Amino acid sequence: DERINIAIDGPAGAGKSTVARSVAEALGYIYIDTGAMYRAVTWSAREAGLNVEDDQAVTDLARELEITLAPGPDGQVVLLNGQDITDKIRSRDVNLHVSRVAANDAVRLLLVEMQRKLAADKGVVMDGRDIGSHVLPNAELKIYLTASVQERALRRFRESGDASGITLEQMEREIEERDRKDMERAISPLIRAEGAILLDSTGIPAGEVVSQIVTLGSKKL
Ligand code: C5P
Repeated sequence: DERINIAIDGPAGAGKSTVARSVAEALGYIYIDTGAMYRAVTWSAREAGLNVEDDQAVTDLARELEITLAPGPDGQVVLLNGQDITDKIRSRDVNLHVSRVAANDAVRLLLVEMQRKLAADKGVVMDGRDIGSHVLPNAELKIYLTASVQERALRRFRESGDASGITLEQMEREIEERDRKDMERAISPLIRAEGAILLDSTGIPAGEVVSQIVTLGSKKL
């Protein structure tokens, strides 16, 4: 086969989705944002008034959800049972609760199964936290993309405008807290997978990171 799978993992705000989307575009591959899936379950649970600590209730809800990632005019559109929730899942409320939902093993099992199916035919660029280590351990190219916490917070801060109503310092603290939870959880924590290439994007334009990954990918063909 002429196509490979590319796994891109790393902490929040490292630029994974921007980079992964561009890499997919450059190679004619499909981009899959797995964080959006955890966010969709979290948004739906909060919307339904569930306690995200209630693993059973969140799992029961997740089993009923149909999550679709579809290409849209400005990147990926996230549909939940047909409803467009692309913008809703980027809220501060979701940011604050998603790590707890992502620590729910039954929810992870459901989403990982979907993710593996989506990548079964290769030609996929998938970003997340456990892609290289757990979801696609046989991915031909694995990247661990990071940047300083200051830069990651600044990127997220600029993206959110003043919509979130929090300061840059608070954004930095919340990002650090989310990373800590994602790295310390028992099931599929964020780690640099074996064989993953470390890329630190601090001070490096996204376009440059994209071409590095595309070059690395072409060597794997
Ligand atoms: O990538 P993003 O910041 O949108 O991910 C949101 C959250 O989803 C992460 O903080 C993490 O808790 C969870 N996640 C995960 N495993 C993945 C992708 C995301 O646990 N593969």
